Amino acid sequence: MRGMTLPNRIMVPAMVTHLCGEDGVVTEDVIERYARYARGGAGLVVVEAMAVHHVKSGPLLRISDDRFVPGLRELARRVHDAGEAKVVPQIIHFLKVARSGWRQTVDMLAPEEIERIIEQFGDAAARARAAGFDGAELHSAHAYTLSSFLSRTNPRTDAYGGQTLEGRLRLIGRVMESVRRKAGADFPIGIRLNGEEFIKNGYTVQESRLIALRLAELGAAYLSLSAGGKFEDAVHEPGQVLFPYSGYSGDRAMPGDWLPRGLHVPLAAEIKAFLVSCGHATPVAIAGKLSDPADAERVVAEGKADMVAIARGLLADPDWPDKVRRGALERIVQCDYCNVCKALDGTHRPVICTLWPQGALQAPAADDAPLPWAGALEASVQAGRVALKWPKVPEAGHYDVYRADDLGNAGLVDAVKVNHWIDATALGGRRYRYYVRARTAGGRASPPSNTVFLDLPAPGVLAAS
Ligand SMILES: Cc1cc2nc3c(=O)[nH]c(=O)nc-3n(C[C@H](O)[C@H](O)[C@H](O)COP(=O)(O)O)c2cc1C
Repeated sequence: MRGMTLPNRIMVPAMVTHLCGEDGVVTEDVIERYARYARGGAGLVVVEAMAVHHVKSGPLLRISDDRFVPGLRELARRVHDAGEAKVVPQIIHFLKVARSGWRQTVDMLAPEEIERIIEQFGDAAARARAAGFDGAELHSAHAYTLSSFLSRTNPRTDAYGGQTLEGRLRLIGRVMESVRRKAGADFPIGIRLNGEEFIKNGYTVQESRLIALRLAELGAAYLSLSAGGKFEDAVHEPGQVLFPYSGYSGDRAMPGDWLPRGLHVPLAAEIKAFLVSCGHATPVAIAGKLSDPADAERVVAEGKADMVAIARGLLADPDWPDKVRRGALERIVQCDYCNVCKALDGTHRPVICTLWPQGALQAPAADDAPLPWAGALEASVQAGRVALKWPKVPEAGHYDVYRADDLGNAGLVDAVKVNHWIDATALGGRRYRYYVRARTAGGRASPPSNTVFLDLPAPGVLAAS
């Protein structure tokens, strides 16, 4: 990737941690979070969005001044020392938001302000290089300034305007020019962008493939695809600033348990194929519920993307890459997409995973000795729902619930901290199988429980037909 060689194709995409203070300086907790991903065997660690400018915004890392460089240098050094991963910071510019729900939009920016943003990105990339990072990633996805210029909803009427695709692409082009001038043309610059905006009148893959082509032409080291996360459909909570992940587009950016696995892979496949057809080998990464190792493997094996970006899956278990490499798949602590981490992000609290031990600020160390299972899993049907219960396993931090149906679907359906679970999505007239495993927070798993089989009664309407 423009001189940056990765040990594998697993990326930790940017995930804000809120582990720093309002001053934006790197802390020991921040360093430990990222060193842990490197120890666990990830190939590319993208450090959470850090601001290229000084606007106030709660606990968020900064790269907006030379005084942040020593902390960033220590972060890069410790990640390098912890494993083979390459590490880049995601650099971000965002506009102002107010608790009233007001937000600054790109049409409010004067030409001088745009010039300043261009310089700020260049300076931030130069600092990333000075701090010893392997490259930098421009945050041009979701609700932030670069993405808002790329958007089909960009309301400007000047040369940076939304009437033409070229107008929308102008800012990112100038930012790339500034970054390369200030950080050096040999410094790898990745770009994160939305494969689809997922808002009314937003762009879809018809245009994101053209945007991707331009970014490849501009010399991007890689393209990291995300989706949604826009202000346009965000839901305003009275007294709070608008959270761009609160509407439907936000659900696409951080898809919860109700959305399918690997939901954005088709966007990556189309963009990747288009780039190849245009003669560009720029690597493409894709995020979105790819923590099932078989899913991740398939995406790469089928050439739909070059890298898999796994955010919440690696938050839950930073040792995921190492466990996959060792073939210890049953040791993985699987994310159940409950999105507590997303809620913590939304309220500016330290981002942790609920599958970790109570009170832990970091993922626990992997532990390997087996955990016993004793007692029987029982199932009953109550008002169309399947109710499971099982005896507590003393050392268990949580329980993984597995389900298979007679239609060929099988796998983990939930991770719960209590010893019961309700399935409200079973189809009448079908046969289901369930089993449960107890698990410690470090991934130590019990053998599977007994398997229960249930034949759900067919609903009356079927009997009548
Ligand atoms: C707590 C949290 C913080 C995030 N912060 C960022 C961020 O700073 N920059 C970014 O581009 N994406 C951010 N994301 C989005 C993730 O990088 C990723 O695209 C998304 O979670 C979907 O991938 P996943 O299904 O593997 O979690 C964040 C996601 C979460 C859950």
